[in-house]
Amino acid sequence: MPLRVIQGTLVHAQSANQPLQILENNVIGVDKNKIIFVEPVECLSELSAQHGFELDEVHNINGCFLMPGFVDTHIHAPQYVYTGTAMGLPLLEWLDKYTFPVEAKFDDLKFATDAYHKVVHRTLKNGTTTASYFATIHKEASLKLAEIAAKFGQRAFIGKVNMDSNSPDFYVETTENSIQDTEWFIKQVQSMNNPLVTPIVTPRFAVSCTLELMKKLAELAEKYNLPIQTHLDENEGEIALVKELFPQFSSYANVYRACGLLTNRTVLAHCIYLDDDEIETLRSHGCGVSHCACSNFSLKSGVLDLRKLMTRDVKVSLGTDVSGGYTPSMLGSIRQSVIASNVQECQQRNGYRSVDFKEMFYLATLGGSKVLGLQNKIGNFEVGKDFDAILVNPEAANSPFDVFHSTYSDTIEDVVQKFLYLGKFASLNFGEKQAKTYNWYSCDLTDTNGEEKCVMSSCHQKCTFENVYDELHLCGNYSDIGIMPHFYQNTRLFMFKDGHLQLNFVAVLVFISAR
Ligand code: GUN
Ligand code: FE
Repeated sequence: MPLRVIQGTLVHAQSANQPLQILENNVIGVDKNKIIFVEPVECLSELSAQHGFELDEVHNINGCFLMPGFVDTHIHAPQYVYTGTAMGLPLLEWLDKYTFPVEAKFDDLKFATDAYHKVVHRTLKNGTTTASYFATIHKEASLKLAEIAAKFGQRAFIGKVNMDSNSPDFYVETTENSIQDTEWFIKQVQSMNNPLVTPIVTPRFAVSCTLELMKKLAELAEKYNLPIQTHLDENEGEIALVKELFPQFSSYANVYRACGLLTNRTVLAHCIYLDDDEIETLRSHGCGVSHCACSNFSLKSGVLDLRKLMTRDVKVSLGTDVSGGYTPSMLGSIRQSVIASNVQECQQRNGYRSVDFKEMFYLATLGGSKVLGLQNKIGNFEVGKDFDAILVNPEAANSPFDVFHSTYSDTIEDVVQKFLYLGKFASLNFGEKQAKTYNWYSCDLTDTNGEEKCVMSSCHQKCTFENVYDELHLCGNYSDIGIMPHFYQNTRLFMFKDGHLQLNFVAVLVFISAR
């Protein structure tokens, strides 16, 4: 697979303190999915001599910018089925009335397969190239989710959920089955041997797990060297119940700590009501927090003081928490997190500084990679990392905002900010009569044996969505356009000549790592 060189504007986070770096007129080189250089365009001739590529092979993304794929650190895949509905009840009632009855249906593998296809598609279409999923208690359906994420090239942590107490009769496991099924699930996912999917140990929350189960799950995480995810301090009723169930522990976090569930690869969702000791516990154990603002508002759980956690050096990130949160879009998470932080500033005053959109951009990309322990692989455009990116065309046809160039001129930072506040991703309707013509080029594939097939490379013919959809489908692994999943040994680059594709947002370039 040849070296890829892309020229244009790169937008990424360097660190928490430099959350939005804009590199105009840069060139990025990608070889076997790894970023091998990021340099100003002035170095192009030198780079071409050094790396042996021709200048006319450089892809110019004029007018667009590249940014890292979004990292959603907390999402319940089965709940996607009813996302956008069933809001308004507080957590415990919401779980009983809406969540458990739907999750219980995932013992039907056919239903699960359809639902999981849809959630993986939907999140990819929203620019989420990495997600940490809760599935359900069903091991086969959970494995199906892992297979679907792998098939469509999404990087994913997949958790078979564990629940052995305080759960409805129709949706509960014995402690023994819970452990056995989890170990089976871990082995199955590991035997897929796909670098994109990782099992994650997933006790639902302390309410629905016995101490025995939680301890055994911590042992499994250690035995197989796996990350862990659960919920913590989300809702006052939940916290009161945890106190009642586990009176021997001085805090909710201490229940998890005592069981060995707090590690530097543990992701804790919500964490709205942490006390000072709990904050210190999370910091000292290196745990990460997934801030789920949309869910916190929708279930009226509370408003997290995100700045406080950042100031105290707790790793933080953003999650959609579908479907406590109704939007599967990380752009939605960014927006609601900004509002939540502004609410904190309104209430606290006294020089409190809310977390701004640039910091949210960091949290939705590099911050998420750190919470998932993937900071050496993804999250920004550092040399050595995998190229995992989305391409944004702010001036695509039907863009939901306008960019100004003359008397009033937007800076690139303005354009990025407009995208974060107002942008949306493409939605394509295959099979409808609205087929458009467009030019496309550069779609290189290798087959599963690693042999280059080069289907449709550098083709400039006019085709319809349906043609391309069918062709991509025949090639094996695409079922969508606008998303460039990447699996096996493949490197895939699929770009549309600007303007011809009628997308609201052209987010057409996604590289995720190969084996
Ligand atoms: N706590 C335990 N289970 C859940 C869930 O499914 N969603 C949310 N938001 N919180 C939980
Ligand atoms: Fe959740």
